[in-house]
Amino acid sequence: MITFKNVKKTFEDGTEAIKGIDLHIEEGKLVALIGPSGCGKTTTMKMINKLIEPTSGEILIGGENIARQKEVDLRRNIGYVIQRIGLFPHMTIEENVGLIPKLKGMKKEEYNQKVDELLNLVGLDPSVYKKRYPLELSGGQQQRVGVVRALAGDPPIILMDEPFSALDPISRDQLQDELKQLQTKIKKTIVFVTHDMDEALKIADQIVVLKDGLIEQVAAPKELVQTPKNEFVRSFIGEDRINAFLNLHTPLLSPVTSIMDPLTEEIKTEFPTIDSTADLKLAAGEMTGRNIISMYVVENGKPIGIIHQNLLLRKLAGFEKGV
Ligand SMILES: Nc1ncnc2c1ncn2[C@@H]1O[C@H](COP(=O)(O)OP(=O)(O)OP(=O)(O)O)[C@@H](O)[C@H]1O
Ligand SMILES: [Mg+2]
Repeated sequence: MITFKNVKKTFEDGTEAIKGIDLHIEEGKLVALIGPSGCGKTTTMKMINKLIEPTSGEILIGGENIARQKEVDLRRNIGYVIQRIGLFPHMTIEENVGLIPKLKGMKKEEYNQKVDELLNLVGLDPSVYKKRYPLELSGGQQQRVGVVRALAGDPPIILMDEPFSALDPISRDQLQDELKQLQTKIKKTIVFVTHDMDEALKIADQIVVLKDGLIEQVAAPKELVQTPKNEFVRSFIGEDRINAFLNLHTPLLSPVTSIMDPLTEEIKTEFPTIDSTADLKLAAGEMTGRNIISMYVVENGKPIGIIHQNLLLRKLAGFEKGV
């Protein structure tokens, strides 16, 4: 859907913001651009709707080079949400949200229903909120309207530049869920800039890690935490997150050693044994199948620790609930 071919951007003052990136964003996917401040996320995003022109290279949308397209035509098909949503203060929510459909020549009857649907989808009752002005809404509600406005014209592509960063953690969490649901339901291609790795891991289909104007890695969330390509990506994700994510998503594949008590004294009781390379799934199968309450974990034939059925089962039950 969106393809970057060796795209570079050097600003007039000589700042090399983007040093050559190749990237393919598939239709209907939510792709997060992430990286430290100044790495070029916003620049990359703004080149998609021509708010910034590349110095060299090509950007294709649906196979067409956007350099040859008029900005107005291009932007009509691209919704844009920024951190401070920028609703027009003198227009009601209804007018704000209807602006793009109206500009696209849609009749009010045509888009009215859609707008109501979208407001409902993000948890705002149209009968309550449509006639209000932006300042009569909370920050989180305004941000939801910003998302609705970007979607109202039904653009195939939506660009979102840190859209939730000004929100409190609870509104933020809710909006992330809502966006993900919306995106799976209405199949938009969404490019989402964020600083926040948890946000990217939670909502993205693909994560693009940028550093100093270059792409370090492109991967699905699970793949990224399982196989960070280098030290930078690894430290950017963070060791804690890597462990937590892997435990949460592949609890059954965690090694038995993750729930093992190391042996502190000599073995006095006879217990069955399991190899230290086994995973929790195997251990659970053994223990429940043969009704074993405890097992020694052996490494190179030597017992190194002990695991207990009750802890194992509690662990797996907890993981399933996502705690
Ligand atoms: N108009 C401009 N003129 C000169 N340099 C610019 C301009 N806009 C951005 N830059 C520089 O380009 C680099 C990339 O900026 P960009 O805004 O893309 O970063 P970012 O990854 O979005 O950062 P942040 O996370 O802080 O928003 C930075 O070094 C920035 O200072
Ligand atoms: Mg930015």
